[in-house]
Amino acid sequence: MDLPPSLRRAIDRALSGRPLEGLAATAEALSQRYRDERQEGAHHGRPHVVTDEDALAYLAVRLPATYAAVRASFAAIADACPQFAPKTMLDVGAGPGTALWAAADCWPDLADALLIETSPVLRAYGERLAADAPLPRASWRSADVAAAAFDDAPHDLVTLAYVLNELRAEDRQPVVERLWRATADILVIIEPGTPAGWQRIVAARRALIDNGAHVIAPCPHAQACPLQPPDWCHFAERVARSRLHRRAKRADVPWEDEKFSYVAVSRRAAPAAGARVIARPRRASGRVTLKLCRPDGSAGEQLFSRRDGETFKRARRSTWGSSL
Ligand SMILES: C[S@@+](CC[C@H](N)C(=O)[O-])C[C@H]1O[C@@H](n2cnc3c(N)ncnc32)[C@H](O)[C@@H]1O
Repeated sequence: MDLPPSLRRAIDRALSGRPLEGLAATAEALSQRYRDERQEGAHHGRPHVVTDEDALAYLAVRLPATYAAVRASFAAIADACPQFAPKTMLDVGAGPGTALWAAADCWPDLADALLIETSPVLRAYGERLAADAPLPRASWRSADVAAAAFDDAPHDLVTLAYVLNELRAEDRQPVVERLWRATADILVIIEPGTPAGWQRIVAARRALIDNGAHVIAPCPHAQACPLQPPDWCHFAERVARSRLHRRAKRADVPWEDEKFSYVAVSRRAAPAAGARVIARPRRASGRVTLKLCRPDGSAGEQLFSRRDGETFKRARRSTWGSSL
């Protein structure tokens, strides 16, 4: 998945004239901090992005990947709820405004966004990227979501992308419930696609269902997640790396796969959903094997062959993350 050209240009402008060597070292350190945290599944309580250089490294190496995950989650929501056309958005832990760009790309009617972010340097870059960009009206607020109450009117779309893992474990459920109260229609929570990230999504999903939310995606049901560790539900988006991104990451490959887990819930009952493809399809001549999460709450592999006629054709066209 490519970034929208206007976002790509805005990032290139922010990075231009910066010595790439220094940036590459900061990017490596930043990626290492995220990797350590993913392995341990716990945040150390200190912010990852503190300096100007950290923020630039985030723009170069993390934003393209988190954008791809957020945009893919939005595509699944749009597919499940084609009538959903949000006018207002609340994005919490907005970073440099990643979810705003993805929402504007997905839902052209979006008119107003409120972005909450603690890091002053990321907020400043977010505002700078958005200046003169084809984006909805955005206001930025400095607030700690774990401490602040939102007394604003509920927003049509509420997003929390790659933030739960930065909150203390005891703050996560109250934050999820607070965000649900601030949701007029759809709330989506996205995490890194690791076993620990999936566990955080499973816990948030359970709390939301207990609070009356209807699951929209990726699960085609509201029953307990049928997957058991060491398995976990996640998806992957291939992200094109710009030359700058490759240098900052010291990587030769022109792409990377961003793994993510997510859940989207709505205040409205979800339209009946088809089974979700929850792993990369395995194709052979005349056959395709799909790992599916099914509307009856079960999950497992299913083989489709030419004998299945139209269903086989649909199965053959399906991709990891699509709905069958
Ligand atoms: C990994 S970044 C994700 C940024 C953006 N959502 C994205 O997907 O690219 C996590 C962001 O959450 C912010 N954050 C962490 N804890 C927060 C809190 N308690 N309140 C508000 N923002 C928070 C951090 O400052 C950081 O910008």
